[in-house]
Amino acid sequence: MSLDRVPFGSWLDRRLHLSGLLEFAGHKTVPHHRFSVVYYLGGMTLFFFVVQVTTGILLMLYYRPSAEGAFESVQFIMTTVPFGWLIRSIHSWSANLMVFFAFVHLVTVFFTKAYRPPRELTWITGCLLFFLIMAFGFSGYLLPWNKLAFFATKVGTDIAGVVPVVGEWMLRFLRGGERVTGGTLSRFYGWHVAILPALATLLLGVHLLLVQMQGMSSPPSEEAKPDRRSMKFFPHFAMRDLFGWILALGVLASLAALFPWELGEKADPFAPAYQNIRPEWYFMFMFQTLKLVPGGQILGVEYESIPIVLFGLGGVVLLLVPFLDRGIAVRGKSPVVTAIGVLAVLYILGMTAWAYGNLIPIWVGLATVVLLALFSLFTYRPQGRGKP
Ligand code: HEM
Repeated sequence: MSLDRVPFGSWLDRRLHLSGLLEFAGHKTVPHHRFSVVYYLGGMTLFFFVVQVTTGILLMLYYRPSAEGAFESVQFIMTTVPFGWLIRSIHSWSANLMVFFAFVHLVTVFFTKAYRPPRELTWITGCLLFFLIMAFGFSGYLLPWNKLAFFATKVGTDIAGVVPVVGEWMLRFLRGGERVTGGTLSRFYGWHVAILPALATLLLGVHLLLVQMQGMSSPPSEEAKPDRRSMKFFPHFAMRDLFGWILALGVLASLAALFPWELGEKADPFAPAYQNIRPEWYFMFMFQTLKLVPGGQILGVEYESIPIVLFGLGGVVLLLVPFLDRGIAVRGKSPVVTAIGVLAVLYILGMTAWAYGNLIPIWVGLATVVLLALFSLFTYRPQGRGKP
C-alpha cells in the first residue's frame, strides 16, 4: 500500500517513515482452511477491549469512587446524563462479551495447538491477558456500590483470605483493611481504571506484536496438506475482520438498548447478608465447587482452601501448556492434552449449569460450536470451487 495516495501521506512518511511499518504489516498472510474461522476470535476480543476503553473513559467523567457518592453518581449517569444509560449498558454488556470471546479464543487456540513453538510467549501473554480480564470483571463489579456487588465482593475476598499462609495478607491487600468499605471501593477503582488498563495495554501490545512477527499458525491436520492456501491480511482478512466488528457493534447496541443494565439497590454494609449472593457468571464454576466443600480442617488447613489452591495450580498449568504438550506429544500428536482440555471445558460448563440450576450454559456452549461450524461452512470454499 502506498502512502502517496493518502492526503498528507508522503509528508508524514518523510517524517515518521510509515511506509516501512506498512511494509512490515503488509507481509502478513492468514492461512485459508476449514478452521480459519478461529482467526477472527482474537480480533473480536480486541474489538470489545476497544469498546471497554472508550465507554470506560466516558463513564469516568461522571463516576465518583466513594461509598457516599458511587451509587448516586451511577444513578445520575443513568437518569440525567444524555445517553448515559446507553454508555453504561454498552460497557456492562461489552465486558461480558469480551470475557466470552476471550474464553472462546483461548479454547480454540488450545484445540488448534496454536501455542506450539515458536508461539509459547503468545500463549503466555494471552493467558495473562485472560487473568487480567477476570480481574477487570471482579474490580468493576463493586463500582456501582449496590447490594449484590457489595456482598459478592465480601464473599469473593473472604475466599482469598482462606488461602494458606498468604491468605490474610491477600484479604487485607484486596480490601485495603479488614472489611469491605469505601476504602475498598477506591482501591478497586484504582485497579480498574489505572493499574489493570496499563498492564493490559502493555501485554496486548506484546501479544499483537508477537502475532504479527510470527504470523498465524495452522492446525496440525492442515499443516500436513500439500495444497495449503492463504490470503493477505491487508486488505482481504482485515476487511472480513471489519465486517465482523460491524456485526458485533449491531448485536452489542441491540442488547444494550433492549436490555439496559440494571443498578439494583444501594449497598448497606450494616444490613444482614443478602440472599442469593452470586458472582459474575465466569466465576460461577469456582463458586459452585467451593459450595460443595464441607466445613472443617485437616492438619490445620481449611478444607475450602484445597480447591482454591487447586484452581491456582490450574492457572499455572494453563500457563505451562506449551511446555507440557512438548513433553507429551509424539510425532506432533498429543491426544492426552486434547482430552484434558475437553474435560476442563466440560467441568466449567457443567459446574456453571449446576450453579444456575439450568442447562443454559450447556446450550450456550453447544450453540457456540454450531455457530463456529456454520461460519466455517460459509467462509471457506474448498480448492477448485472458486477463489477465497
Ligand atoms: C484481551 C485478550 C486478547 C486479545 C485482544 C487477543 C488478540 C489476538 C489477536 C488479534 C490475534 C490474531 C488473530 C487470531 O488468531 O485470533 C491473537 C492470536 C493469538 N492469541 Fe490472542 N488475544 C487475547 C487473549 C488470548 C488468550 C487468553 C490466549 C490464550 C491463552 C491467546 C493466545 C493467542 C495465540 C497463541 C495466538 C496465535 C494464534 C495463531 O497463530 O494461530 N490470546 N490474539
